[in-house]
Amino acid sequence: MRRTCMCAEISDVDLNKKVILCGWVNKKRKLGQIIFIILRDITGLVQIKIDQNQKRIFDLALEIKSEFIIEIEGLVKLRENKDINNNLKTGNIEILAENLKILSSAKNTPFSILDDNVKEELKLKYRYLDLRRKKLQDNLIIRHETVKTIRSFLIDNKFLDIETPFLTKSTPEGARDYLIPSRIHKKKFYALPQSPQILKQLLMISGIDRYFQIVKCFRDEDLRADRQPEFTQVDMELSFVTQEYIIKLNENLLKKVFKKILDIDIEFERINYADSMERFGSDKPDLRYDLELKNLNNILSDNNFFKDISYIYGIKLKNCDFSRRELDKLSEFIKSFEIKNFFVLKFDENLETRNNLLNKIELKSLEKTFNVDKNDFIFLCASENKKKVLNALGNLRIYLARKFNLANKNIYKFAWIVNFPMFEYSIEDKKICATHHAFTMPHEEDLYLLDNSPELVRAQAYDIVLNGYEIAGGSIRIHDANLQRKIFNVINLSKKEVENKFGFFLEALEYGAPPHGGLAYGLDRLIMLLTNESSIRDVIAFPKLKDSSCPLTGAPDYVDIDQLSNLDIKY
Ligand code: AMO
Repeated sequence: MRRTCMCAEISDVDLNKKVILCGWVNKKRKLGQIIFIILRDITGLVQIKIDQNQKRIFDLALEIKSEFIIEIEGLVKLRENKDINNNLKTGNIEILAENLKILSSAKNTPFSILDDNVKEELKLKYRYLDLRRKKLQDNLIIRHETVKTIRSFLIDNKFLDIETPFLTKSTPEGARDYLIPSRIHKKKFYALPQSPQILKQLLMISGIDRYFQIVKCFRDEDLRADRQPEFTQVDMELSFVTQEYIIKLNENLLKKVFKKILDIDIEFERINYADSMERFGSDKPDLRYDLELKNLNNILSDNNFFKDISYIYGIKLKNCDFSRRELDKLSEFIKSFEIKNFFVLKFDENLETRNNLLNKIELKSLEKTFNVDKNDFIFLCASENKKKVLNALGNLRIYLARKFNLANKNIYKFAWIVNFPMFEYSIEDKKICATHHAFTMPHEEDLYLLDNSPELVRAQAYDIVLNGYEIAGGSIRIHDANLQRKIFNVINLSKKEVENKFGFFLEALEYGAPPHGGLAYGLDRLIMLLTNESSIRDVIAFPKLKDSSCPLTGAPDYVDIDQLSNLDIKY
């Protein structure tokens, strides 16, 4: 080793010791006869003092610029009282330099490592410089600690860590596949897994009993702050278990993680999917603030403005104010969810509203329902389509919470969302689809509904929601080939499609499949919440931009014509 210790590991117990340190020059200042260098490594910062008496190294230090890498040998000294920096872990000591070597020089960087306001694209082009920032390094350390905790919990609970292939066949999770052309099998493609769903179920059929894997998954979908084209799942599957067992096990896992990383105790609520939609207009509600939706059909269905509209809902925002412009913006926002009937009521000191939308009796009932006080606002939405009203108000809820800063970043509100519908209608695909995925077991008491009312069938599926983000999802699986065929049939897969895509899996189910179930976390989302970041990009070493490109390497990129001809691909 060149060094005797790391920068921020030195403290006043090391006084007068000789140390050798290596690191990056965070900052350099010359104050008359003295040069101060703040030296940085992964542990943090320490101040180096170079006196003009040390002529050789003083002259060398004059050449040094930010981001040079140096080796320093010196004595640990206490700083004078006036120079103590309480913001720095090593703020009461400094290293009096006796020797200095420049290990590596550095060009002027395209942005300062100390600047937090650099454009995303530039930061990602020079991600290796961006990653020199303490906040990002700390995030990667927390990621590492979290993975260590999860791994040891699962191993202690008898899970086997098993890898599954990336070059595989399509595994449907509702997104587009990333495809890899085969050189040997012309015109054929591998698909990168959207998740190891089928493979982990095959492991249960093999008798593996408990599997886990911390694994990359690939989905070609539109990106958002909480979505990347490749992301990491903590994926698990267990045989001979109930939904309740999986829920309790994962509560214990998360309790362990949050205790270890944030030193806090956490609790879990359980909410039915239907209640979650009704109360929060979302299946991933942020429970840090109330702003609950209320059904107002009883109160307003005789009102002229709402006559003949099937669904009327509202939410109340306490004690606030909006400018005309802000209210216009809100109306536009609501319109984007295809809602035409949107009304805003502001209550004055006498608990009256300025517009005459409602009569006295209606107003009184509304006041009672929402427990209205002066300066409160009520937002009303109505439509023929219940889903659209709930969705619009669910989004308004989030919009208002952001605008008025209602969500405390240091509170962690967990909920299990349970009893999802087995199927939903996909407007995009114009057909009925599995809400989670097609391998989910319906509730046994709902099986009789499969033929005639599939939309009423509930699934043995569960999501974990944390502060408005879905951090994990799972289900009990179908372990009977006939039932599995039936589900494929309900989602309108033809016999041929089923055979082509899932024939091997259906066959496996016929050789003795144990009852089984599992769950997968979005690790990046979990770490984003543990680190209080607002994008998963900040907890991934080399993330992609919103358009799925990587400005650092230039991926995706054109390839040589020879490579294409090997694959029999022509443009
Ligand atoms: P699901 O599709 O719900 O379930 O994925 C599990 C979790 O993965 C995270 N996630 C993502 N994170 C970042 N970027 C993305 N593009 C992305 N997509 C999903 C979410 C989500 O909760 N096979 C099932 C799991 C199972 O049933 O066991 C599955 O993949 O946090």
